[in-house]
Amino acid sequence: MWMTNAVALCLLALVASAEDKKLSSHATMLADNSANLAFSLYHNMAKDKDTENILISPVVVASSLGMIALGAKASTASQVKKILNADKLKDEHLHAGLSELLSEVSDAKTRNTTWKINNRLYGPSSVSFTDDFVKNSKKHYNYDHSKINLRDKRSAVNSINEWAAKSTDGKLPEVTKEVQNPDGATIVNAMFFKPHWDETFNDKLVDSRSFLVSRSFTIGVPMMHHSGLYDFYEDTENNIFVLNMPLGQKQASMIFIMPHYVEPLQRLEKLLTRKQVDTWISKMENKAVALSIPKIELEVSHNLQKHLAKLGLTEAVDKAKADLSNISGKKDLYLSNVFHASALELDVKGNPVDTSIYDSEKLRDPKLFYLDHPFIFLVKDNKTNSILYIGRVVRPKGDMLRDEL
Ligand SMILES: *[C@@H]1O[C@H](CO)[C@@H](O)[C@H](O)[C@H]1NC(C)=O
Ligand SMILES: *[C@@H]1O[C@H](CO)[C@@H](O)[C@H](O)[C@H]1NC(C)=O
Ligand SMILES: *[C@@H]1O[C@H](CO)[C@@H](O)[C@H](O)[C@H]1NC(C)=O
Repeated sequence: MWMTNAVALCLLALVASAEDKKLSSHATMLADNSANLAFSLYHNMAKDKDTENILISPVVVASSLGMIALGAKASTASQVKKILNADKLKDEHLHAGLSELLSEVSDAKTRNTTWKINNRLYGPSSVSFTDDFVKNSKKHYNYDHSKINLRDKRSAVNSINEWAAKSTDGKLPEVTKEVQNPDGATIVNAMFFKPHWDETFNDKLVDSRSFLVSRSFTIGVPMMHHSGLYDFYEDTENNIFVLNMPLGQKQASMIFIMPHYVEPLQRLEKLLTRKQVDTWISKMENKAVALSIPKIELEVSHNLQKHLAKLGLTEAVDKAKADLSNISGKKDLYLSNVFHASALELDVKGNPVDTSIYDSEKLRDPKLFYLDHPFIFLVKDNKTNSILYIGRVVRPKGDMLRDEL
């Protein structure tokens, strides 16, 4: 008896300490800086004319940058710290802080989210990873390592895709169709993200609707519907709706930003700064909202190499200049691909709804929030202020219904 009590007390103490645990000052600073990185990276990627859907996890990008810093020396290393706005941070604080941040925000219990994050560094067959690097990159960044013969492109691509599919339980079947520059190192982030909502959607109310990619192009998608009280703001000056959907434990939430009517997202993107998003959030009010959100699976893969170069990571990606000698003990590597790939699933599942609200006056005259045309979203962490995901949905998967062009 006393044993079980002691165990129970111990467990209680563990739970309490996990909840109260404050983030270290380094992790707090890095969380804040990674949120800035979210916007600069998003804008850089949105400039690319060929890019449709965007799906990036800024905290995972920050963590991959940390892994590069761990393997880099001299100015190659200082460039990484500069992008993270952590020039003045000691190396050990950088690595410990990023590691702390990622384990905090990816905690499935507190964030009530399925988030599988798998990271791998592929090197050419000729490379030998040092034991220290293998150990430390696993410890801080949960990276594993693999050698791959990138000269045999087809089998290299297959093996990267097979690993990604396997480590995401098949949710992310493909990271890439090709790998460039077989003599370099390749980073792969393979992720699966599925939020569990604070309020569940009724599965029986899911119906088939249209998503308007543009005025003349429509895709059929299943749509889920729910009425409830949500933080909502209508920016009537800019014709934009902003809605906050809390996840299960209210430690993180998904924020949808959508123009009133179907239009290309460029106008909205011009307004999209961290400050503007904070302003929208601060103006939100808890209101009755009739929500309709597509029930979709989105798989997006980006090669971030050139975007990171634009943000200042010019040496690591340059064969002549890169000093990644802390990876192999020799100056024989540079970064040739940074594949950042995620599958996102928006599903009905969430916590049971307090049905007493339906009998009250609170749900009268709800605002309509009908997510049926291109939108931007963020998954924001409430405790650390970091951004778990930022992205846009321009073209969901589904059958084309109408093309009047
Ligand atoms: C290189 O790695 C070693 C061992 O992990 C570490 O002690 C050293 O600080 C690293 N050098 C740089 C410049 O990061
Ligand atoms: C989220 O919370 C609910 C209710 O506590 C639980 O059933 C579900 O498994 C959780 N999901 C995750 C991914 O933590
Ligand atoms: C963030 O947490 C605070 C305090 O727990 C809570 O009042 C607030 O509603 C949360 N915000 C969101 C967006 O979930």
